[in-house]
Amino acid sequence: MKPIVILGIFVADTSYRAIRQPKMGETIIGEGFALGPGGKGSNQSVAAAMAQGEAGAGVHFITRLGRDDFAQIARQTWARAGVKAEVEEDSESFTGAAFIFLESGTGNNAIIVSPGAAARISVADVEARAGLIKGAAAFVTQLEQPIPAALRGLQIARAAGVPTILNPAPAAPLSDEMLQLCDYLTPNETEAEILTGIPVTDLTSAEQAADALLARGVGAVLITLGGNGALYRDAERSVHVPVISAGPVVETTGAGDAFNGGFTVALTEGREVIEAVRFGCATAGISVTRPGTAGAMPARAEIEALLAKSR
Ligand code: RIB
Ligand code: NA
Repeated sequence: MKPIVILGIFVADTSYRAIRQPKMGETIIGEGFALGPGGKGSNQSVAAAMAQGEAGAGVHFITRLGRDDFAQIARQTWARAGVKAEVEEDSESFTGAAFIFLESGTGNNAIIVSPGAAARISVADVEARAGLIKGAAAFVTQLEQPIPAALRGLQIARAAGVPTILNPAPAAPLSDEMLQLCDYLTPNETEAEILTGIPVTDLTSAEQAADALLARGVGAVLITLGGNGALYRDAERSVHVPVISAGPVVETTGAGDAFNGGFTVALTEGREVIEAVRFGCATAGISVTRPGTAGAMPARAEIEALLAKSR
């Protein structure tokens, strides 16, 4: 069995819980603080490795770290989850961090991410791992590291016939060349709107946005819809997969990463694509019942148990 290869960033998530965001020039007293592993690519790698379980074919994560304490958090996180690190160590920059504001009461979040060393992930970094990408069961990336690096990874994967998944987060304008390299594109509602100019507020508008992306050459579009689950749409069909709830929502940060990691695992195990979407929704459904991002990712047995219960 071939491994999953993921390109992206790691950062230390520093999350602050408060009743509201401070206004400019204002200081407010928070209700809580947590430091933990984050970064979309790293979170997706942890989600995928845990969803595979010990019998899985492995998850390799290509990234760039500084030489500092936050880099140690990264390495410990990956070791615990079983992620294989493909790291360039950068002595000229620091391991990045994210400021996460958590609104107490709603669980909503607002994030500033400073990628640090991962902002220096280069085309050459990706080309150095070309052999790994060519031998992958799937190649996954996002938009937190420089886009030319993501583009190069997608090109290498496509040329080798490796299925490609782009989670276009955070949203950025993308060329048709880039979109045509994506077998699966997985925006959330906001990202789908920024990519298409179509405000995504319900299932109908999500379908319209998906159609606009299909018309630009994406193979299949999966729009994550928060509390409404996900929409899968390709040239032949349009399927709404409702949310798969595992209990009260504690924190939704990283739910998209859980979805992408779980979906990729199920897809690479040869499950039918809608079953893979359900597997992704179940992974996300569990992650939101726990605080944190990478630290909230469920084990395979938990995902299977939730899926069995929700049939
Ligand atoms: O998707 C959630 C992640 O986005 C957080 O872990 C934060 O680091 C930001 O990159
Ligand atoms: Na969570």
